[in-house]
Amino acid sequence: MEPVSRGRFITFEGGEGAGKSTQARILAERLRGLGREVVLTREPGGSEGAESLRPILLEGDGDRWSPTAETLLMYAGRADHLEKRIRPALAAGAWVVCDRFFDSTRAYQGAGGGVAPDFIAQLEQAVVGDDRPDLTLVFDLPVETGLARAHSRAGGELRFEAKGLAFHERLRAGFLAIAAAEPERCVVIDATPAPEAVTEAIWAAVSARL
Ligand code: TMP
Repeated sequence: MEPVSRGRFITFEGGEGAGKSTQARILAERLRGLGREVVLTREPGGSEGAESLRPILLEGDGDRWSPTAETLLMYAGRADHLEKRIRPALAAGAWVVCDRFFDSTRAYQGAGGGVAPDFIAQLEQAVVGDDRPDLTLVFDLPVETGLARAHSRAGGELRFEAKGLAFHERLRAGFLAIAAAEPERCVVIDATPAPEAVTEAIWAAVSARL
């Protein structure tokens, strides 16, 4: 029998209120329409264990966790998600579309929270290893626009949204720096236009790269 070729791993990243989750769903549907097997997932979460960490990470006071503790909790969930869901799916030839992944730790806990890049890089190497995304779509929009959109949305997961404007400016700069440093993996998507235009920009990036 022919060996199954490994699926592709696509991640969606960016600040708050950028519309990533909706666009990840649309991309997954479009790929399924082409006959691909697609696993649509998210972080923090994506496996039973990691989903149980999600409220612990996203609810409560902004300073509930120290940035280092928060980094380790994100990585505990990520390890479980990779082992239980992402690696098996890729090995079976499925494409994995993930709403946030390790760049969110680099940006939120690193650029935003001040955790040393070296510490995060060591966790990446130990936990993710070679299973890095094939393509990362970095959603970019002005901080005020994103926060206004995020506040108008239902849901109580406000820990990170509630951090100040300066935190969110560091985040935005952090994501853009990642994209600039790894242009072979990352494509910056302008998230300010109407959703239909964003959908087409994503499709252009996916068709060109994968
Ligand atoms: P979201 O699913 O609405 O994007 O919320 C997830 C929140 O978790 C968001 O505020 C970003 C944050 N987060 C981190 O701080 N670090 C991480 O590694 C991940 C995956 C998410």
